[in-house]
Amino acid sequence: MAEIKSVYAREVLDSRWNPTVEVELTLADWSFGRAIVPSGASTWVHEALELRDWDKSRYLGKGTLTAVKNVNTDIKAAIEWKSFANYRELDKLLIELDWTKNKSKFGANAILWVSMAFVVACAKSENKAIYDYVGEWKWHILPYPMMNILNGWSHADNNVDIQEFMVVPVWAPNFREWLRYGAEVFHNLKAILKARWLATSVWDEWWFAPNLWSNEEALQVIVEAIEKAWYTWKIKLALDVASSEFYEDGVYNLAGEWRKFNASELCGLFEDWCNKYPIISIEDGMAEDDFEWWKEMNSRLWDKIMLVWDDLFVTNIERLQMWIDQNLANSILIKLNQIGSVSETIDAINLAHEHGMRAIVSHRSGETEDTFIADLAVAMNTGFIKTGSASRTDRIAKYNQLMRIEEKLGDKAQYGKK
Ligand code: PGA
Ligand code: ZN
Repeated sequence: MAEIKSVYAREVLDSRWNPTVEVELTLADWSFGRAIVPSGASTWVHEALELRDWDKSRYLGKGTLTAVKNVNTDIKAAIEWKSFANYRELDKLLIELDWTKNKSKFGANAILWVSMAFVVACAKSENKAIYDYVGEWKWHILPYPMMNILNGWSHADNNVDIQEFMVVPVWAPNFREWLRYGAEVFHNLKAILKARWLATSVWDEWWFAPNLWSNEEALQVIVEAIEKAWYTWKIKLALDVASSEFYEDGVYNLAGEWRKFNASELCGLFEDWCNKYPIISIEDGMAEDDFEWWKEMNSRLWDKIMLVWDDLFVTNIERLQMWIDQNLANSILIKLNQIGSVSETIDAINLAHEHGMRAIVSHRSGETEDTFIADLAVAMNTGFIKTGSASRTDRIAKYNQLMRIEEKLGDKAQYGKK
């Protein structure tokens, strides 16, 4: 049993200079846990609610003082000086107290981070690393990093339509070397873009966002950077198409290259790219409403790559189960704040694993120095983590934490997919 002595929330800033919530929690034995909430740009209708103040006089309405107040009043009153057997018991109480389906009473940004701070404090209390406390395995898999290095216009203001182009180093002896490969490709890509007088400033997840002639040119410049770094065949590619962003009435409008596709043509384009480039994963390839075409895309690509759904599943076991029953997915993206508690996030990963699906732990585009997701990926042996580019501390903090974990695990560290 762990008794909570105190909980306290404050408003702090995320990597985009937007306010977010930080929670500090102390157990009766003085073990201390701190957690900070990230924030997405494309928060989907089915996600748990990120509570904002909507007071235009502060941070253009994005203040989080209401969520902070919810922790410092109602949640505090309900959990201080109470004992919990584990984080599941605490989460259950918080969810019952909120009673709304999407955590809109307290805000997912209030509940989740109390839940996470509790896990951090309990791990300290048991003198364990977080990954060890959450996932009590005899061995742990270091996740392949999916490093987002070039982006399109739903996350930037360039003319590339596809949201994310990621490099995934896979052929190296260990995590530390995967990271080195990724970082060297990042620097080579910068040099290539610069030589072509293309923009090399970096955006939210610290990717490049140059104007290009086509979406395929993005794949070409990345492959060029991989070759220049001498890592041909050692690095694979992954896309987050975020296709709902450019889908309307049956048409996928790749406005940046002045082309419109129907679903069949877009599937054909992906197939063509999978044949030409070392792509191992496509996320949100078809729009959420384009139900018939998910099936078609699955039938064409299921055996070749990971077909990852982010906006459709939103880390929610009810939604995930719905699609599992129809055999419509082979991978799920996992974002803690889409569902809003640690135990529900772990349930989603377990459900995916039970059905032979891959679960990829992911950051959000607005991040912080919090490194919990690095431990979560190792705790749950997910095999993949998506946590941004090879620059700027909010993303690198996760990679650095994974290097620490790798060192600590020593010969208990395993590599490769589960
Ligand atoms: P978000 O986007 O964090 O801005 O929602 C990331 C993604 O779509 O994977
Ligand atoms: Zn996504």
